[in-house]
Amino acid sequence: MDINQAKTRIAELRKTLNHHNHLYYVEAAPIIGDYEFDQLMRELATLEAQFPELDDPNSPTRRVGSDRTSSFAQIRHQHPMLSLANAYSPEELMEFDTRARRALGTETPRYICELKYDGVAIALTYRHGQLMQAVTRGDGINGDDVTANVRTIRTIPLTLHGNYPDEFEIRGEIIMPHSVFAELNAQREEAGETPFANPRNATAGTIKLLNSAEVARRRLDCFLYYLPGDYLPQRTHYERCMEAKNWGFKISEQITPCNTMAEVLQFIDHWEAARRELPYDTDGVVIKIDNLDHQQSLGLTAKTPRWAVAYKYKPERVCTPLLSVDFQVGRTGAITPVANLQPIKLAGTTVKRASLHNADQIDLLDIRIGDWVYVEKGGEIIPKIVGIEQSKRSLFSEPLIFPTLCPSCGTPLIKPEGEARHFCPNAEGCPPQQMGKVEHFISRRALNIDGLGQETVALLFSSGLITNAADLYKLTVPKLAKLERFAAKSAHNAVASIEASKQIPFARVLYGIGIRYVGETTARSLAEHFGCIEALAKASVEELTQVPDVGERIAQSIVQYFTHPNNIALVEALTQAGLQMAQTEADKPTTLSNALDGLSVVISGSFSRISRDDLKKLIAQHGGRNVSGISASTSMLVAGDKIGPAKLQKATQLGIKIVSEDEFFSLIESAAQPQE
Ligand code: IVH
Repeated sequence: MDINQAKTRIAELRKTLNHHNHLYYVEAAPIIGDYEFDQLMRELATLEAQFPELDDPNSPTRRVGSDRTSSFAQIRHQHPMLSLANAYSPEELMEFDTRARRALGTETPRYICELKYDGVAIALTYRHGQLMQAVTRGDGINGDDVTANVRTIRTIPLTLHGNYPDEFEIRGEIIMPHSVFAELNAQREEAGETPFANPRNATAGTIKLLNSAEVARRRLDCFLYYLPGDYLPQRTHYERCMEAKNWGFKISEQITPCNTMAEVLQFIDHWEAARRELPYDTDGVVIKIDNLDHQQSLGLTAKTPRWAVAYKYKPERVCTPLLSVDFQVGRTGAITPVANLQPIKLAGTTVKRASLHNADQIDLLDIRIGDWVYVEKGGEIIPKIVGIEQSKRSLFSEPLIFPTLCPSCGTPLIKPEGEARHFCPNAEGCPPQQMGKVEHFISRRALNIDGLGQETVALLFSSGLITNAADLYKLTVPKLAKLERFAAKSAHNAVASIEASKQIPFARVLYGIGIRYVGETTARSLAEHFGCIEALAKASVEELTQVPDVGERIAQSIVQYFTHPNNIALVEALTQAGLQMAQTEADKPTTLSNALDGLSVVISGSFSRISRDDLKKLIAQHGGRNVSGISASTSMLVAGDKIGPAKLQKATQLGIKIVSEDEFFSLIESAAQPQE
């Protein structure tokens, strides 16, 4: 390669890597795997070493990708948060060992092996045994202050026990267990939101939420694996970790000392398969030199410590021809490209279909029908296409064109600003959207109508028996029994289940009608706040954003929903059919005491014992009313951590009673009836 060719390739690689860095860290939605990313980074680093005259201080090889956003305060790390050098083969690992031995002038040092958790790195600071601060990696020098969110993670101790240093930092990885990830994605899909690509992205997205109550609901977890600094008496990494365990931390579970490289390789071998049984994602093994004096003498490079290395497992992947692509239309009109593959075995199952995400990804990977594509299965349930094998491409292949018209109803597709997906705007006339809405309506968490599966819904549509959810209430046993494959008993069951759904509480009906972005939690808050569908239908964007968890986007979507005649007609028909369109006494929260009877209570700041949502619920359960802004009519302010000084001042000026989180609990606990 001559210098001109190198110049072009370097520019190309820098641009691509910057783009992927942004997708990974800022958007939390990467479209290539870590392995591809590392390969590109290596290629760039090699070229830069070969052509030092093309060096650039802003090259992606010089920085740790940034996850900085503008919504959180920026904190400078006391010790820079470095990345780790990667090794992809036992040979590369042996080279690491040789380098370390040569530099130390010793035999193989003792190594500590840990699993490499695939989540979001966090630096926690404790002072006098209290969690003071939690900061993300950011660009390695400055990170985001996400303390309020991190406080909600149950496995991170807020207060330590034992003999901890007065002030210290500990680092680890925040992760989302598979079970939580699956549940979260199911909810997002039901609410018409884009699902997260994998647990790591879901963790990154969660830790950057501005609403820590929502963070609390997502049940994140955290493993700690590193204590930087010189304040501890222990002179090995292992002893420090064990000591930190005594103070209450959840230390890397599989941490294992190894005295030889053979033991290290054995650890790697064992966990390659065993990690699949773990309830969270790991993508490799981290090998650290145990002795801190050794660590110190080896030192750091600009990006990585010389005393540790990450052995990355190759993701399980296969290469197979892409036969065709289906463009599926979901209930919200979102178009999802799904690849049909020549069936092939991958990680124990036969894969026939794979997700292609959206048009941007098809363009970026330049995927064509007939291409041999690489398919990977990470933590996610649906395998994904991560690249193509250029050498097997046919000379005559043509780029895959994303449709401009809806594959089902022919309406021109739209791509709303800020959305990665295309949508069919024909919500009223597009069959898969109509059917999808009914499927959502009858789903277990909505109206819970069983006896009608996806196929039956399609049959009901094609036979003209229903055109929307309200038509379900006109179905009778004789009408159903006429349908092919519908026995009298199933017809009876289905009609009985439809009848029973008339008792389903208002909040679930509201969720079931499928207003875009209105998930279960939002539906519950809306039902509680407005009490009935008429009040909700009349609400303005300003009124709607007063409701907990309702932001501008959800509010707009609700207002828009109720401007459409078809939606109004559907709601009217459902009301006529006898569904619950208002909150009843039984739906209201149970009363625990009358400690706050008639009081309007404002909560502000962050709370350590309870999420904001649960605090609001508690206020209602004790007879109070939660209001959002401080005014002369406010009775009490519950002041959490980091409450703004302006709010405190206003409350003081207006003579409003101010109580701390603990005082609030004593107040309600002393009034609550003792439980049996
Ligand atoms: S040690 C200075 N140990 O991997 C070294 N990192 O690719 C501090 N990671 O930034 C890191 N599991 O976010 C360490 N057991 C483990 C880890 C681990 C996951 C992450 C961490 C780090 C990244 C480097």
